[in-house]
Amino acid sequence: MTFRHRHLLGIEPLHPMEITTLLDLADQYVALNRAPQKHSDALAGLTQVNMFFENSTRTQASFELAGKRLGADVMNMAMQASSIKKGETLIDTAMTINAMHPDLLVVRHPHSGAVNLLADKVNCAVLNAGDGRHEHPTQALLDALTIRRAKGRLHRLSVAICGDIAHSRVARSNILLLGKMENRIRLIGPPTLIPADVRDWGVEVFDDMRAGLAGVDVVMMLRLQKERMDGGFIPSEREYYHRFGLDGEKLSHAKDDAIVMHPGPMNRGVEIDGTLADDINRSVIQEQVEMGVAVRMAAMDLLARNRAAAPQGVMV
Ligand code: NCD
Repeated sequence: MTFRHRHLLGIEPLHPMEITTLLDLADQYVALNRAPQKHSDALAGLTQVNMFFENSTRTQASFELAGKRLGADVMNMAMQASSIKKGETLIDTAMTINAMHPDLLVVRHPHSGAVNLLADKVNCAVLNAGDGRHEHPTQALLDALTIRRAKGRLHRLSVAICGDIAHSRVARSNILLLGKMENRIRLIGPPTLIPADVRDWGVEVFDDMRAGLAGVDVVMMLRLQKERMDGGFIPSEREYYHRFGLDGEKLSHAKDDAIVMHPGPMNRGVEIDGTLADDINRSVIQEQVEMGVAVRMAAMDLLARNRAAAPQGVMV
């Protein structure tokens, strides 16, 4: 099974076999990243441009490292200082970069759909590094790789996704991916942070952590995304932590070997107890960061191979 896509804009268009292909390649890159010599020339001669219109620590750093380890020329655009500030539109900026012949464009943008719009206008492969509340495909893929390595499989698991589902592109991409791979998904959070159309997504919904976590294999916590809220979603952070913050007692309702995940950045003491987040017997948060580099290497490698095979861009 090959990976037949020109861009990586979301999990939605991916076939389960393509997800497996990508994760298998990422496993090989995990091994490379742990070796003393971390270099391959899979992207040698290619140019990768990172355009982040929203703040990022781990996603931007790992895309940069991924490109460098594969031998690409990597440029990080300082979008804060770019002509966007002077009123240039997203499309004009994209066309300007496009004229410089990049091969891979990594884009994060605060508006849902902006990255898809941009992908229509450029000749290079576009990777969505998070658009609004829409999708964050490489995050779901790195989460999937982390789960597969910890649990030995990526199907027939019970996964709880907890907290601010409504504002989370991480939740959306994970629900799509875990659903395609035939897992049971539970969403846990206050009704104000659960999207209205959630019943169509093939998930179970809980507003009680202990009931929702009962017997699950994986507990995925989400950050309370205050920058996407305009007030009134939660009574107070203290109250939220009391009801929905993950601590040892609430986790004791999950399976004894359940793993704890968080995409970062974490609000310790708001959605998760700091000691639990650092507990290497339960938390795989650092593994998620490690898998992030390998998954991004695999994604860029597969898209670059497709460009080499079909430079006129017949794929979607
Ligand atoms: C997430 C994001 O930006 O969507 N972070 C990340 O990429 N690791 C989640 C978040 O911001 O809470």
